[in-house]
Amino acid sequence: VVAAFAQLAAECYLDASVGSGSYVSAVLPDDLLQARRSLRPARGPSPPRHRSRVATRLVAVPRFEPRPVRAFRANAPAVHEFPTTLWAQLVARRARRATASQLLGTDPRGYPPLRAAIADYLAAARGVVADPDQVVVVSGVLGAIDLVARLLLDPGDRVCMEEPGYRGAALLFEAAGARVARIAVDSEGMAVPGARHRNARLVYVTPAHQFPLGVAMSLPRRLALLAWARRTGALVLEDDYDSEYRFVGSPLPSLQGLDRSGRVLFAGSFSKVMFPALRLGYLVLPPDLVDRFASLIALVHRFLPPLEQAALCDFLTLGHFGRHVRRTRQLYAQRLGVLADGAARHLGGLLELAPTEAGLQTVGWLCDPALTGAEVERAAAAAGVEVASVAPTYGGPVPRQGLVLGFAAIRERELRRGVEALARVLERARR
Ligand SMILES: Cc1ncc(COP(=O)(O)O)c(C=O)c1O
Repeated sequence: VVAAFAQLAAECYLDASVGSGSYVSAVLPDDLLQARRSLRPARGPSPPRHRSRVATRLVAVPRFEPRPVRAFRANAPAVHEFPTTLWAQLVARRARRATASQLLGTDPRGYPPLRAAIADYLAAARGVVADPDQVVVVSGVLGAIDLVARLLLDPGDRVCMEEPGYRGAALLFEAAGARVARIAVDSEGMAVPGARHRNARLVYVTPAHQFPLGVAMSLPRRLALLAWARRTGALVLEDDYDSEYRFVGSPLPSLQGLDRSGRVLFAGSFSKVMFPALRLGYLVLPPDLVDRFASLIALVHRFLPPLEQAALCDFLTLGHFGRHVRRTRQLYAQRLGVLADGAARHLGGLLELAPTEAGLQTVGWLCDPALTGAEVERAAAAAGVEVASVAPTYGGPVPRQGLVLGFAAIRERELRRGVEALARVLERARR
């Protein structure tokens, strides 16, 4: 009884004073915590609204939809293979041992030991030359692109990027008011921008594994791009997404590691190696830019969640990350093999798979010139197959219609079913 009274008093349900007695509080806490329904304004039509230039430039972006993974979901890792029990232990241990200072926050540039672990990992795996002080923890590569667009671009500035290329990046640059120029991609990666782009402020490029075509930028092309950036004064934003998944040969050194003039910003992500909901990535900056980025992060986010950053640091430094990459790399190579075999057997004359040696997805080119990726996407969805047209990755005219096919997240049986179902969809569409 004493404990019950103490609890009621602690939660302000009772006013108790020694020698006088305990009385129900004149104002119950519930009244202070719950808004009265009648006070909420009635919903009516929205008033005419001013929109900023950014808002008017933004087009509708697909939302996250919690659907089960089917063939051929792109841009998704095999989350079933992620060691969630181990991850839960690392997060729980960090949460149990959190100090008061960790509960209050962390450096806006990121949890310092994590930044050191990322610098070590990138030096070994990607040839990135950087001090931990140059590493900033960001909310995925998209977070990195957003910071770069806000801090390094003014409205009207020119940004060069690949054609076709990552639409998310194009939308963010355009939302910042930049003029995006598309540069053709060939078998050596993005071409070096021509003379009419010499005033470009920034070049955004995916050299490790071009999105969406999958080619790796050749070494001569990398050196030529860096020489061009030195000559014109442009900065290069290197998006290293998916680089961990190369199935043959060893990766070429990053542009950042080849650069001697401090012109390259290097962005990467844990979304694809670990799991997309983690929303943690990194941006490696030339030393003179770090403070400005730290100030913007401090203003917008303060910092990214410190406990997840600390658990991620453990995941990297205890070797779990390396083990997970090695295991999933083998698995994804097998899954790619299953897709390629199935395509050879069932998709001949319908869809031509691009040669693929890396990544989580590939491109299939439609053999029938009368078909568009968008109509196949719709017909496939009706048949329980998820494919995405490549057309939205082009900024200009689409020279060839094709589909992006993810394989990494899809089990072998589902891949086989997907190939057969897609073949039926394409046969029907051709007729
Ligand atoms: C080329 C490319 N860069 C960046 C991203 C976004 O990565 P993140 O999840 O780290 O923001 C994607 C997502 O699919 C991508 O395809």
